[in-house]
Amino acid sequence: MFYSEEIVEEVRSRSDIVDVVSRYVKLQRRGSSYLGLCPFHNEKTPSFSVSPDKQIYHCFGCGAGGNVITFLMEYENYSFQEALGILAQRAGISLPKEEMSKEARAQADLRASLLEINKLAANYFYYQLKQPQGKQGLDYLTKRKLSKETIRRFGLGFANKTSDDLYRYLKSKNYSDEILKQTGLVTIEEQKTHDKFWNRVMFPILDVNNRVIGFGGRVMGDGLPKYLNSPETKLFDKSRNLYGLNYAKTSREKCMLICEGYMDVIAMHQAGFVNAVASLGTAFTPQHASLLKRYTDQAVLTYDSDGAGIKAALRAIPILKEAGISCKVLTMAPYKDPDEFIKNCGQEAFKDRIDSAKNSFLFEIDVMKREFNLEDPEQKTRFYNSVARKLLEFPEALERDNYIQAVSREHFIHYQDLKQLVQRISSQMVPGMTVRTSEVSVREKRKSKDDGVKQSQRLLLTWLIENPKLFEKIEGVITPEDFREDLYHQVAQMVFEEHQAGDVNPARILNRFINDEAQYKEAAALFNASLKESLNNEEQKKAFLETVIKVKKNSLDEASRAAADISQLQKIIQAQSALKNLHISLD
Ligand code: GTP
Ligand code: MN
Repeated sequence: MFYSEEIVEEVRSRSDIVDVVSRYVKLQRRGSSYLGLCPFHNEKTPSFSVSPDKQIYHCFGCGAGGNVITFLMEYENYSFQEALGILAQRAGISLPKEEMSKEARAQADLRASLLEINKLAANYFYYQLKQPQGKQGLDYLTKRKLSKETIRRFGLGFANKTSDDLYRYLKSKNYSDEILKQTGLVTIEEQKTHDKFWNRVMFPILDVNNRVIGFGGRVMGDGLPKYLNSPETKLFDKSRNLYGLNYAKTSREKCMLICEGYMDVIAMHQAGFVNAVASLGTAFTPQHASLLKRYTDQAVLTYDSDGAGIKAALRAIPILKEAGISCKVLTMAPYKDPDEFIKNCGQEAFKDRIDSAKNSFLFEIDVMKREFNLEDPEQKTRFYNSVARKLLEFPEALERDNYIQAVSREHFIHYQDLKQLVQRISSQMVPGMTVRTSEVSVREKRKSKDDGVKQSQRLLLTWLIENPKLFEKIEGVITPEDFREDLYHQVAQMVFEEHQAGDVNPARILNRFINDEAQYKEAAALFNASLKESLNNEEQKKAFLETVIKVKKNSLDEASRAAADISQLQKIIQAQSALKNLHISLD
């Protein structure tokens, strides 16, 4: 941590969350909080709630939540330091520079300079495109049917034939060779220095926050390599960025279109499909998926129609599923890719293809089918067996049955026959399965008991945060030590302390976890729950007593296991029997 807890807390407490969020999200007052459309996923009815009292936000739809600092981090793709810097500036607080370690400051400075240089380079390429020497580039882009507006929107440019003019330009801005080397834009050798990109049309790559983090350059004919991309740098991590996401994220479409290349993204945007993104020649990664998941839970893969594109789709499907994104697959056949499809068939036809995109599971079956010669009875049987085995990927009987229906319909297999085959294969797998299921069930039982206790601690804490009057009810019974879950224990200590001092402030407590992502998430979930859990009906009032007893009982049980001597144990036993007579009335 580079800044002291005090200064971070000062910045947070002087940045009103409603003010800050309102700059990005239209909020409307609803009772004690504000409601708006969630900026982290697409929705039509508002489920994004901001609490001025608690100074936190929470989305009931996608589960995003946190305080004013994490809101900026998530929304703007800022690092913690950047978010803090912006808020501090806004609040008129000057952050002490020397508190950052020397190394951290150097890193931050380097990043800032690299961004600055990339931006200069992007402007330089853009300018060149409009000059006489850039005519060849402009002609190329025009030939590829890109409009002036599209060229402007994507900041497309041109790298000259001379092999070091960008270098000279950047030197004229007083950047050292040392830093220029790290941009990946130039190679500097003893005798000779040259630009990485020359005689190419240039595609600046922007991050979600519209900052230039790298470049792609295309030859204007058939030369090789067709595309040259910036190397990985301090700014540019291919596996974490999606081309076009800076625009796609605000498209408010319910799904994202994922394709392979620069030109595909640009062609789709130009045709009005502004929800298109590309992973740019690298395989789609889990990091890409979680980046996307911030904005959508549905994707349509519009990869090339060739073998490589199909393989890439097959690899991306499980990655998307794992991230909780359901996906469909589009085929561009008989054309190569979205760019060519749109050029030949127009946007209406493309829209039709999107609307009739294939469910990813059925797509996988289609691809599988091609490996078998269905004229041959033996191969046909093997195909059916493979289908049946694949259907067992669905653990839920109901969902599995839906797919059995769909597959039998599409591939003209008799539904009952396929269903029986699936059952038979699953029963053949039983010996192995039973062992596993029984192991699982023991583990699961234990886990669910643990979860139950954990859940009670969470609920109790949530209620205490929601309604400070409850502290009176548990006085003498529950202390922070009874929250045995490490995180809840830490939170409970702070909540109890703050209650004593007369002001429980969730956003302030949350701030203490800001440097540990996992803990922060869990703590945020706890406070978020306090926005919706309230003890206002009879059932919940009854639940309060049960929850208190459960938390205390678990705490005493654990204490008794750890008891050091007889007298300690006796005390615990007394407390355990007293618990049986505990009565709390909430009225
Ligand atoms: P156009 O021919 O301009 O329409 O490109 P394309 O997008 O149809 O090309 P392709 O399907 O061959 O490639 C898809 C993406 O892979 C491109 O947008 C690049 O990001 C990347 N790519 C293609 N060729 C190369 C290459 O030679 N080197 C590298 N590093 N990346 C490439
Ligand atoms: Mn293409």
